[in-house]
Amino acid sequence: MLLQKQDFKKRIGCIGAGYVGGPTMAVIAAQCPDYSVTVVDINEKRIAAWNTDNLPIYEPGLLDVVKKARGRNLFFSTDVNAAIRESDVLFVSVNTPTKTFGEGAGKAADLQYWEETARNIIKASNSDKIIVEKSTLPVRTADAMDRILNANDKGIHFEVLSNPEFLAEGTAIEDLLHPERVLVGSRETETGLKARREIVDIYTNWVDRSKIITSNVWSAELSKLVANAFLAQRISSINSISALCEKTEADVGEVSYAIGTDKRIGSKFLNPSVGFGGSCFKKDILNLVYICEHYGLHEVASYWESVVRMNDYQIRRFVLTMVQSMFSTVSRKRIVLLGFAFKADTGDTRESPAIYVAKKLMDEQARLVISDPQALDNARHDLREHAAKIEFEKDPYKASRGAHALAVMTEWKEYKDLDFEKIFAAMEKPAFVFDGRNILDHRRLFEIGFNVYPIGKPPMSHF
Ligand code: UDX
Ligand code: ADP
Repeated sequence: MLLQKQDFKKRIGCIGAGYVGGPTMAVIAAQCPDYSVTVVDINEKRIAAWNTDNLPIYEPGLLDVVKKARGRNLFFSTDVNAAIRESDVLFVSVNTPTKTFGEGAGKAADLQYWEETARNIIKASNSDKIIVEKSTLPVRTADAMDRILNANDKGIHFEVLSNPEFLAEGTAIEDLLHPERVLVGSRETETGLKARREIVDIYTNWVDRSKIITSNVWSAELSKLVANAFLAQRISSINSISALCEKTEADVGEVSYAIGTDKRIGSKFLNPSVGFGGSCFKKDILNLVYICEHYGLHEVASYWESVVRMNDYQIRRFVLTMVQSMFSTVSRKRIVLLGFAFKADTGDTRESPAIYVAKKLMDEQARLVISDPQALDNARHDLREHAAKIEFEKDPYKASRGAHALAVMTEWKEYKDLDFEKIFAAMEKPAFVFDGRNILDHRRLFEIGFNVYPIGKPPMSHF
C-alpha cells in the first residue's frame, strides 16, 4: 500500500505523533501544500485520535490547522515502515525521557526509542534519506545516529540533521506559524549542506529567510539545551528571590516588574511560581549537566544543576507553607488543587509541580480534590496509586464545597474570574488560599474573608 501519493514535490515523514511531532507536522502540511506529510506512531490510540476531531492533545488552534490539511497532504498512520520507505525527509520526534536505570540514571537521556527508530529506519529504507532530529536530544546524538544509520549494509546514505523545536505548549501553533527563529544544523560537507538547503526550503514556504539560522549539527543541538537552561534559570532566579521577599517586606511582583523594565534583563519569564514543570526544562538541564560531567566540567555541571535544585526547593517550600499555615496539620482537611497541568492552555502534566504537591499532601493525609479544565485524565494517570482516595472534579465550584483550602497550581485564566464570594460561602472556616501562580486578586480575597498566601509577598491572614 502506498501511503503517500507520488505527485507531491517532496514526501515528508514524521516518526512520533506527540506534542512536538503532531503540531509541527500539521503546520508544515498546512503551509506547504506541495509536500505530502505523513505522521506515524506505534501508539494506535493516538493515531486514531489524530484522525478524528477529538485530537489526542489539547492545543489552542491545532484542530483548525489539522482540518485544513488532513486528507489533503497530511496523513496520520500506524504504518511506520511504509512512511519510512516512502519519505525523502524523515523527522524524528519520539520521546526521549530521562534514564531511570543504569549509567546516567536520573540525568542522561534514555535513547532507547531513538535507537529503535534508527534501526527501523535502516530496515525499512531502500533509498537515501535526510533524517531530522526534532526531539530535544543530548549533544552529539546526531553523531551517534549518523554512525548507527550509516553502518547499514544496504549502501544507503542517511544525512542526519538537527532542527530543534522551540514551540512552547499552549502557544504551539502561534510559535510554529510565527517563529522567532528556525534552527537548522547539518554537517558542513557537500551532502550535509545540500540536505540543509532542503530543510531550509521547507520553512521558507512561510518563514522569512532571515529568521532561519544555519549552523553545524552540534551547535544546533546545544543551542536547544542552552535556550531551555537559560529560560529555566530565569524562573529559578526569581523564585529564589521570592523566598527572600517572604522573609522581608519586599514584594516579588514589584521586584520582578522593576528589574524587567531594564531592557538588558527583559520582562519575560520572571513570573514567580510554585515551580516550573513540563517535559523539557528539567530534562534538558540534566542532559546539559550530564554532558558537562562527562567532560570533567564539574563546576559547570553543578552551576546548571542548581537551577533544578532551586526548583525542587520552591515546590517543597510551597507545600511546607501550606501545612505550617494550616496549624501544622492538613490531616483529613479537604484541599482543592486548582489546576494540574504544568502551565495554562495545555492538558499536559509532565513534571507538573502539582504532581509533587498532590503526593506530598496525600502523605500528610489530606483529602485531595483535583480540578483542571483539560488535564484530569492525565492527573488520574499520574496519581493512579492514590486515585481511589482522590476526588477529580472539573467544576471548581463543586470542588471547593466543604473545602478548607484552595491551592492554585496552574495559571488558567478562568480561575481569575471565579465568584470567590460564592466559593468562600461554601467552604469550611477558616478558609485558605495558596496562590502558587500569583494570579488572583489577593487583597479582594482577603476582604472576602480568606487567609491568603501568595508567592513572594507577605501573607494576608485574619489571625
Ligand atoms: C519550553 C520552552 O519555552 C520552549 O521554547 C521549548 O521548546 C520547550 O520547553 P514549555 O515547556 O512548553 O516550553 O513551556 P514554558 O512556557 O517554557 O513553561 C515551562 C514552565 O515554566 C511552566 O511550568 C511554566 O508555568 C513555568 N513558568 C514560565 C514560570 O514558572 N514562570 C515564568 O515566568 C514562565
Ligand atoms: P514529545 O513531547 O517530545 O512530542 P511525546 O511523548 O508526546 O513526546 O511523543 C512521542 C511519541 O513518539 C509518542 O506518541 C510515542 O508513542 C512515539 N514513539 C516512541 N517510540 C516510537 C517508535 N519506535 N516508532 C514510532 N513512534 C514512536
